[in-house]
Amino acid sequence: MMPLAQMAEAVLRTADGREKTALSHKYAAEWRAAREDGSHPEIGTANPPLHPARPATPELLSPRDVPRRRPGTPEGRIALMHAVAHIELNAVDLHWDIIARFTDIKMPIGYYDDWVKSADEESKHFNLMCDCLEAAGSHYGALPAHAGMWRAAEDTADDIMGRLAVVPMVLEARGLDVTPGMIKVFKQAKADDTVAALEIIYAEEVHHVAYGSKWFHFLCGRHEMDPTQKFHALVRQYFHGQLKPPFNEEKRAEAGIPPDFYWPLAQER
Ligand SMILES: [Fe+2]
Ligand SMILES: [Fe+2]
Repeated sequence: MMPLAQMAEAVLRTADGREKTALSHKYAAEWRAAREDGSHPEIGTANPPLHPARPATPELLSPRDVPRRRPGTPEGRIALMHAVAHIELNAVDLHWDIIARFTDIKMPIGYYDDWVKSADEESKHFNLMCDCLEAAGSHYGALPAHAGMWRAAEDTADDIMGRLAVVPMVLEARGLDVTPGMIKVFKQAKADDTVAALEIIYAEEVHHVAYGSKWFHFLCGRHEMDPTQKFHALVRQYFHGQLKPPFNEEKRAEAGIPPDFYWPLAQER
């Protein structure tokens, strides 16, 4: 079996979305099989690109140039599905990147188990959203998408704790806040396939946020840092967006993100 970090790099260097996610599923299955055998496969080292390979479309635009569409229309719902597909493809790369990028930091094997599982799930999420788009007569790449989603990864390429704070604990936690509203939109439109896909995404994202919190707290413990203070400092340093209420306090709590992590940041911006 190829060392895990090299598998991660291979996924990052695959451009096509369906191919990237197929490779991601294949490597995740190999990893899972080896772990179920009781072995401790090699992590190795890799040379992950600063920007992962991506398909020629969608065209990437600055968020203010991406046209807004009303979710009450079929076009609006396609735009929403397209935006989710784009987020999921980014998430596939983000989870493999956190595996490949920080191999110089000794982490327990469970760290790798968690991110391989997350990457595998993100790959499923991307394909589910692509299937929904295709069933609605569109496809991933048909509309422009947000550039800059990789910004958080670039900004934290040298700081594993910054990465954990900003990606799973801020960005993916934000997903928990907004997904119920999206599910409502598709329920009202009686788009059962999209509702089912979003419900899978919603259930599985809780774990990704929880893994972020778990490994963030692990590293705080290793370095004898106060987790709340450290989290605030890292988000202020690396995150350029806003932490916007309303927060999904219930799901955030389930994922190990207490209110004193996010409320003070929301109030100051
Ligand atoms: Fe996802
Ligand atoms: Fe995720």
